[in-house]
Amino acid sequence: MFTGFLYTSEANQPRELDSRVYLQSRRDNRARGITGTLHRQGCLFVQHVEGPADQVDALLSKIARDDRHRDMTIRWYGTLPQRHFDGWSMSYSTDQDASWEAWVSQRKRPSSLLEADAADIHAFLANIVMPDYS
Ligand SMILES: Cc1cc2nc3c(=O)[nH]c(=O)nc-3n(C[C@H](O)[C@H](O)[C@H](O)COP(=O)(O)O)c2cc1C
Repeated sequence: MFTGFLYTSEANQPRELDSRVYLQSRRDNRARGITGTLHRQGCLFVQHVEGPADQVDALLSKIARDDRHRDMTIRWYGTLPQRHFDGWSMSYSTDQDASWEAWVSQRKRPSSLLEADAADIHAFLANIVMPDYS
């Protein structure tokens, strides 16, 4: 069993600096058995993190204290029988790769990312064709 969380937050940095976050994350997550995905939608971050409970909880506290973003809102926290992003120590995508607005406009109940159900956000993230930024 794995533990995971999903959150949205507002970026305090331009997207040009996101590589510092995801490159460091990939290295550290690999060492800790954590996988997941980070998506940048305009000025918002949406991130799903999964792995061993103790590692995931420790990372949640660190990310919550990180001043490169603000207004972090946990949208889902729970257990997973299997990983959603096995093999991705932390994939990264932006709205140029996959846009929430374009995706959600095809759903029955379009909503903003900040109001959407966690299930819809998870479906959106799982649907992204991950670009290789490494
Ligand atoms: C949006 C965002 C996502 C992040 N995701 C991760 C992550 O997946 N893994 C990670 O190790 N650090 C991530 N970080 C960085 C952590 O907040 C923290 O800076 C990092 O874990 C280093 O902490 P340490 O110096 O205490 O080891 C993220 C930061 C931000 C702003």
